[in-house]
Amino acid sequence: VTAVSGTGPCPRAQIPPSAADDAACLDVVTGAFSYTGRAIAGRLLAAGRAVRTLTAHPDRDEGRRRHIDVAPLAFDDPAALAHSLTGVHTLYNTYWIRFPHRATHFATAVDNSRRLFEAAARSGVARIVHVSITNPSLDSPYGYFRGKAEVERSLAESGIPHAVIRPTVVFGGNDVLINNIAWLLRHVPFFVIPGDGRYRLRPVHVDDVARLCVEQGMSSEDVVLDAVGPERFTFTELVQAIGDGVGRHARLVHLPPSATSLVTAAVGAAVRDVVLTRDELAGMMDGLADSDAGTTGAISLSGWLRENGGGLGRRYASELNLHYRPGARRRRPESP
Ligand SMILES: NC(=O)c1ccc[n+]([C@@H]2O[C@H](COP(=O)([O-])OP(=O)(O)OC[C@H]3O[C@@H](n4cnc5c(N)ncnc54)[C@H](OP(=O)(O)O)[C@@H]3O)[C@@H](O)[C@H]2O)c1
Repeated sequence: VTAVSGTGPCPRAQIPPSAADDAACLDVVTGAFSYTGRAIAGRLLAAGRAVRTLTAHPDRDEGRRRHIDVAPLAFDDPAALAHSLTGVHTLYNTYWIRFPHRATHFATAVDNSRRLFEAAARSGVARIVHVSITNPSLDSPYGYFRGKAEVERSLAESGIPHAVIRPTVVFGGNDVLINNIAWLLRHVPFFVIPGDGRYRLRPVHVDDVARLCVEQGMSSEDVVLDAVGPERFTFTELVQAIGDGVGRHARLVHLPPSATSLVTAAVGAAVRDVVLTRDELAGMMDGLADSDAGTTGAISLSGWLRENGGGLGRRYASELNLHYRPGARRRRPESP
């Protein structure tokens, strides 16, 4: 059994973990059957750690379920939340909402995150690795980025040693955004570029995000780290690169943000999903998916597209199916 750096080996990574297990070997990952959490959990399992997930989708991913202990993301039950975090070394937190829907707002997600950190503090969790986003700010005009900054503040106030990993746009595995750009390029003869398309992004592979998280899980310093890939694209270049990858080039049409929102809302109505939110659109145009930090991700989007473009965007990836429609088909086949 390979040890995660900084700890001894974990020879008894059993599921469900027993009280006799070494607490230093048990980690909790939120969303281990979803996207980033899935990649983090995979790395932890490969390193011989015992993994418990907190999720609202306990029935997903039968294969993985055999290796992962499952507990609910019980934000409204502090005792249950604390119980699920007892005996845990590191909490890897990926919980967030992409957009407000029904009764769940960004303020709800901020409050839920605070409850999670409070439960972790009560349970004696040794470390939290929190997945945030590049350029969060308490002054941001965008609820998404403001909420992320509020959560980072709650984490700092928890007093628990922690690392904050801030990815830009994440690709690879069963991602939503890059996949859906590919889906649009495959299915629609034109593609809308909001504004001049010159704002920049530094996409990062989900396995690089997971690697950074797991490396930080076993460190003891408080750190904030951008998860940024080796390439920097303008948005127009990104769409062209995805077009090269899937072998389809739609006509690019530049529209102002307000008209782009109307078009994405129309596409959203057709696919019964929220394709792109106002915060995502405006944040991207403001350069919030860019970063001047040193490269921390090794996998390039261009290289990945060359190998995986053939399968990308064959199926639309629905955020609403994923999080709000019980029993709906999963977005894309599971990554290994
Ligand atoms: N994906 C990206 O391109 C990207 C880019 C930058 C930053 N991030 C950040 O990375 C983190 C993980 O993102 P992800 O894309 O990997 O998300 P995800 O896997 O779809 O979801 C992460 C976790 O949040 C929960 N969750 C998501 N939406 C929810 C909702 N509407 N109601 C209740 N629970 C919900 C999921 O619950 P279940 O376990 O029940 O699925 C899961 O535990 C987030 O903090 C996000 O802000 C992502």
